[in-house]
Amino acid sequence: MTRWLRLTSAGAVSVVVVLSIAAFAAAPAAKPSRAPAVEDTLLRGRFLVISHVCGDCHGGGSNPAATGWLAGMTTPRQEFRIGPCAAAPNDACFKTRPRNLTPDNLTGLGRFSERQIFNALRYGLRPGETPDVEITSAVPGQGNFPAHPKYLAVPMPWTSWRHMPDQDLWAIAAYLKRGVKPVRNKVEDSEGPPDFWASAYTVEKIGPYPAVAFPAASENRQQ
Ligand code: HEC
Repeated sequence: MTRWLRLTSAGAVSVVVVLSIAAFAAAPAAKPSRAPAVEDTLLRGRFLVISHVCGDCHGGGSNPAATGWLAGMTTPRQEFRIGPCAAAPNDACFKTRPRNLTPDNLTGLGRFSERQIFNALRYGLRPGETPDVEITSAVPGQGNFPAHPKYLAVPMPWTSWRHMPDQDLWAIAAYLKRGVKPVRNKVEDSEGPPDFWASAYTVEKIGPYPAVAFPAASENRQQ
């Protein structure tokens, strides 16, 4: 029984508890389709993607059963207009476009490794323009961090997501690559300033990573 519980993914535990005695007596139970550790990682990634509103921008809202789940923008209404035009509609704008996060090899994340997706979420580096290497510093030119980083366009909220623990970011990358069906949907490239948003992502504007120690000036530690 204990062994059973360990071998079974978390979501199925309650079912197993109810059915295990009968199942043991009758026929051999169906094997999980993947090793439990892999299944757990994919479910963790799925939970994080749903609860962090990735689908609100990338397609499908909070519903993995929705058509176009994470397949990227499909209508101009999902495009963001960033820059002076926000105040004056006729002024200049950068149009930025939520990309296809399904593992399609031509138009989605199929072209990139899980490490490139990890680096996008932790460091905001565009997977298509950043080498597939382990990065150990957030300082340009150090620890494999590109000297001239090509950052993801705003408003992709990587500056918040980067604070998730490593394991969670790896789980998201695993889910996007291995837990979602590929959808072919070519999203036109985002527009942006020549510095690829570097001036929008300074420590002064987005805060340090890792975050400062608790409690910071505006925080309280109550016992
Ligand atoms: C507020 C809207 C918004 C939300 C929420 C959002 N994204 Fe994005 N994301 C974008 C935009 C816009 C881009 C395109 C950036 C660019 O073109 O440089 C993008 C790009 C990406 C890319 C790069 C894909 C590529 O092919 O270059 C990844 C990976 C990604 N998002 C993952 C996520 C994940 C995972 C979540 C949820 C945890 C998420 N995004 C939530 C707007 C969003």
